[in-house]
Amino acid sequence: MLDRPVNATLDAANRRGPAKPQLLSVEDAKAMSVETMADLFKDHINPGQFHFMKLLGFHKVKIERAEGMFYTDQNGRKILDFFGGFGSLAHGHNHPRVLAARERFQDEKRHEIAIAFLSQYAAALAKNLAACSPGELDMVFLGSTGSEAMEAAIKVAERASGRKNCKIVHAENSFHGKSKGVLSITDSTLYQGDFRLVDNRVKVPFGDLPALKRAIENDSDIGVVVLETVQGGGGIIGAPTEYWQGVRALCDRHDVLWVADEVQCGYGRTGKFYAFEHHGVVPDVTALAKSLGAGKAAVGAMIAKRSVYMKAYGTPKTAMIHAQATFGGIGEACVTAIEGLEVLYDEDLIGNSAETGAYLLSRLKTIQAKYPQIIKDVRGQGLMIGLEFHDFSRTLPLALRPMVAMLDDKLKGSLSGFIGALLLRDYDVLVAFTEYNRNVIRLEPPLICGEDHVDQFCDALDDLLGKGIVSIVKDFVKSQLG
Ligand SMILES: Cc1ncc(COP(=O)(O)O)c(C=O)c1O
Repeated sequence: MLDRPVNATLDAANRRGPAKPQLLSVEDAKAMSVETMADLFKDHINPGQFHFMKLLGFHKVKIERAEGMFYTDQNGRKILDFFGGFGSLAHGHNHPRVLAARERFQDEKRHEIAIAFLSQYAAALAKNLAACSPGELDMVFLGSTGSEAMEAAIKVAERASGRKNCKIVHAENSFHGKSKGVLSITDSTLYQGDFRLVDNRVKVPFGDLPALKRAIENDSDIGVVVLETVQGGGGIIGAPTEYWQGVRALCDRHDVLWVADEVQCGYGRTGKFYAFEHHGVVPDVTALAKSLGAGKAAVGAMIAKRSVYMKAYGTPKTAMIHAQATFGGIGEACVTAIEGLEVLYDEDLIGNSAETGAYLLSRLKTIQAKYPQIIKDVRGQGLMIGLEFHDFSRTLPLALRPMVAMLDDKLKGSLSGFIGALLLRDYDVLVAFTEYNRNVIRLEPPLICGEDHVDQFCDALDDLLGKGIVSIVKDFVKSQLG
C-alpha cells in the first residue's frame, strides 16, 4: 500500500537487464504516512513485534528529526529520550561534530571497504581504542555489532586458553547477543528457542564468587569466563568490587581468561570509560559497540591483551582464522567512531555521566521514598539506572485483573509497560523496558543529559505515579479498548 503511484519504468524496451521493480525512493520513505509505515512493518518486518508496539502506543509515532536529547515526531512533538537506544547514543542524536566529520569524509570521496588495502581509518581507530583502554588491552578487532564483537571475544579467548575442549563460563540472566555463538551464552529460553547451540558452556549465578570458584576448580576444561560488568538485559545488575577482584584472582590462579562484555555498560555509561575500571581490575578481553558508532554508524570492537591475541592469531598460519569481515573497519564508520571518541573526551561526557547520573539517582530515590508501595528499587551508576516496580499482579483490585489479563502476556503483571506507555503518551518521555525482568525500566539517556532533562523526566514520573496504580492501569486499559 503506497502513498503515491510509483513512476513508470523508463525505456523498458531498451533494457539489457531486468525491469526495475516497484521501488520506494528515499523521498518516498521520508514522506511515508504513519499508517503506511505500520502496514509495511507488519507486511515485511515483524507482525508479532508490531502487536507489542501497538500495545505500548509506539505505532502512532513517526520520527521526523532527532537532535541532542530529543526526537521530534510527525506532529512536531518533542520527545525526551531517556531510552538512548539501550546505551547507543552517548553523544545524543546527530551530534554536529560527528555529522561534520562524516560530511568531510564524503566530500573528499574517501574509500570505504578495508579488505584490499590497509585502512588508515581502521588503524587510527584501533590505536585510539588502545589509548582509551587500560593495561595491555591494545589489540583490536573491528566489526559492526555488539554480537560480532562478542563473537570475536569468545573466539580469541577460546583459542588463547590453550585447552583442547575449552569450556566457557557465563552468568545467569546474561545477554551477549543473538548470533549463534553468543546466543549460546545468552541466558534466555526465549531467545535460545529450540536452536542447536554451542554446548561447551557452563552457567553460574552472576556475582557469586564461591559458585564461580567451584565451577572452575571442578572442571579443568573451563578456559574462559564471560561476564557483563553490569547486566543490562538482566535489569541493571552490578556486582561489588570484591567480586571483580575475586574473578581476576581466580582466573589468574587457574590460567583462565576473563572476557568483560562492555557493549552496553562501557563507553562512559557508568562514569568511567569501562565499567570494570570502578573495580581496579583489567580483563583479558573486552568488547564495545553501541555508542562506539556515535549514534550514526554500526561499529563494534573486540579489544584483547596483546599476549592473548598473539597466542590465538599471532602467526602467519593462524592470522586469518578470524580476520576482519567485509564491513569490519569500513571507512566512514571508523571516522565516525574516531570523532565520537574525541567528542566523548572534549565534552567531558564521562564526567557528566558520573555527575548527572548521581543527580538522577538521588531524585529517583526521593520519588521512591514518596511511592514505596510502587517503586521497589532504584539502582545503578552513571547514566545506567534501573527503576524496579513491585510486581502488582497479585495486589491489583480483583475487578481490574480480568482487564489486565486481556492484554498481551508480555505486559501482564508489569507496571513498567503501563508506565512507559503513559510517559510517552502524556508526558513526551521515552523509556526502555528490560528483557528478563519486565518490572524494570532501564534509563540510559545520552551522556549529554543535563540536570534540566533529569528534572523533566523525574517531574513527569512523579506526576504519573501520583495518580496511583489503579488509575494508571485503568487509563492504560481504557486506551487499549478505545
Ligand atoms: C551486553 C551486551 N552484549 C552484546 C549485545 C549485542 O549487541 P548487538 O545488538 O549490537 O549485536 C548487547 C545488545 O544489547 C548487549 O547489551
